[in-house]
Order: sequence, then structure tokens, then C-alpha cells
Amino acid sequence: MARIAHLSDIHFGANDPNIVAATIDWLKEKQPDLVIISGDLTQRAREGQFQDAADYLRALRQNGHKLLVIPGNHDIPLYDVFRRFVSPLGRYKRHIAQDLCPWVETDEAAILGINTARSLTIKDGRINRDQMGLIRQRFTGVAPSKTRILVTHHPLFELPIGQGNELSEAVGRHEDALQAIADAGIHLTLAGHFHRTYAEAATKMVAEAGPTLVIQAGTATSTRLRNQEPQSFNWLHVEQGDRMELQVIVWNGEEFQRASHVGFSLKEEQWHSEELSTHEQTTEYFPAANAQLTAVDR
Ligand SMILES: [Fe+2]
Ligand SMILES: [Fe+2]
Repeated sequence: MARIAHLSDIHFGANDPNIVAATIDWLKEKQPDLVIISGDLTQRAREGQFQDAADYLRALRQNGHKLLVIPGNHDIPLYDVFRRFVSPLGRYKRHIAQDLCPWVETDEAAILGINTARSLTIKDGRINRDQMGLIRQRFTGVAPSKTRILVTHHPLFELPIGQGNELSEAVGRHEDALQAIADAGIHLTLAGHFHRTYAEAATKMVAEAGPTLVIQAGTATSTRLRNQEPQSFNWLHVEQGDRMELQVIVWNGEEFQRASHVGFSLKEEQWHSEELSTHEQTTEYFPAANAQLTAVDR
């Protein structure tokens, strides 16, 4: 079993230092096999914000964590138009990582990050044909026993927002991307950007993506919240691609606490979920299944 912490939308420049410190302490105590950070490390892609983000990642590495980090739309300058188009992720590359599509393979899981942040689309993301090729190619030859995970900042799927049946915009070219996901046999897609948590089986949302489970992370540390949903991150335990547990870890004002615990099983190409009992459950917070997402993130 692989134990993975999925944090997103750290947003240095608009985050709470106490909550930042609490994530470091929580991770140090739990010692995940992998820490994933799915973009928006900064609020406005400024030099000092990237320096703070780099210090944060350094602290995590010093505590022995293996990291997989990708950029988000906030890691491209918004107002500095010259930098935005000439070197949109230059600061990210200098301070955080050169590799915008990182790959990690452990004994139990194979994880690919894809950069969906673009200069032109302001807040919406895109995925290009080379990246779709990379998705197909990277997972070729991965042992069938391993859980295959794809990480993006922007959700690849349309997710419910607002009232009724309204859906959010998915990443650009998402239909082709979904075919690539199906071809690569991805079990789990992880994303952020919405500052809301959500978990749903892709089979219930789109027909073309095969048996993929879609999990969103909230914002781990940003002070910009949506619908008063508190800061949170996801704590995943995954087993051989067909069984996983998701715990949503929520900031309660003083500490991070488990707020929900859901199990997912893949049977006959469909994901099924069940609430798992938890003695730590907080009363007020209901994350995933019926949460309504609002358009987010500027
Ligand atoms: Fe964000
Ligand atoms: Fe974002």
C-alpha cells in the first residue's frame, strides 16, 4: 500500500504561516511515501513568493519526504505581461523545479505530473498533444500491480458547480486527454485549482476515461476560501489500483484533523464508495460527494 499526501494551492503570498507550519508538522508525523503538491505554489508568481515556496519544499525534503510538484496558473505572472509571455514559468523553474512534468515510480505506484498552466488562458488550463503522448508513453511497461496516478493542477473533468446540473469548464482539449487517460489505464487523477474537495468516479462523469477515480484537493494553506470551506488536503492510501481510501484532513482553526474517511473499490470497471467509520469525525464538514463547486481561483 502506498500512503500519499495530496496538497494543492499553497499560495505563498496569500497564505497563513501557522497553517503552513502545521502541514510540515503533520507530514513529519505521518511520513507519507510521497507528498504531491498540485500547483499554485504562489499567489502572484513573485520572486519573494517563490523563495518562500522553495524554503517550504526544502523543509519538507529535510524531513525526508519525497515530493512530486507541478505548477498552477498562479505560478505564471498575471500583471507582468513581458515575463508572462517571454518566460511564463521562468521563476518556477529557477526556484522550484526544471521538470514541469515530473515522474515518480515506487514499488506500489506510478505517478505522472502534467503542467496545465498556460500564459494565454489566464486561469483555465490546457493540455497539449505532446503531453497526451507523454501520458501514454510513461505508463507503458508499468507493472499491472501498481496504481497509476495522473496529477494536474486544472481538473481534467467537468465538475458540478453552482446549482443544478451546471458543470465547470474542464481543461482545454480534455476530451482527447480523457482518451489518453483511458489508453494509459490511469486509476486515479488528482487535481486542485477549485479550492474545494470532491471525489467521484470518472465512470459516472464521462464515458471515455475508463475506470478512473477523480479526486480534487482543497487549498491546503491559502487564506482565500470558497464558501467558507476550510483549508484541507487529502490523505490517500492506495492498493494495486483497485482499492483506495481517502481521508480529508481539515484545518479546524487550531490543528489539522480528519474530517471524512471514504473507501473506494473498483469492481467491474466501476468505482464504488463507502463511508468508513471515524472516531475523529468533525460534525460540520462534509467534503466530497455532494459538494457543489463554485468557479474559483483568481
Ligand atoms: Fe489556487
Ligand atoms: Fe489555480
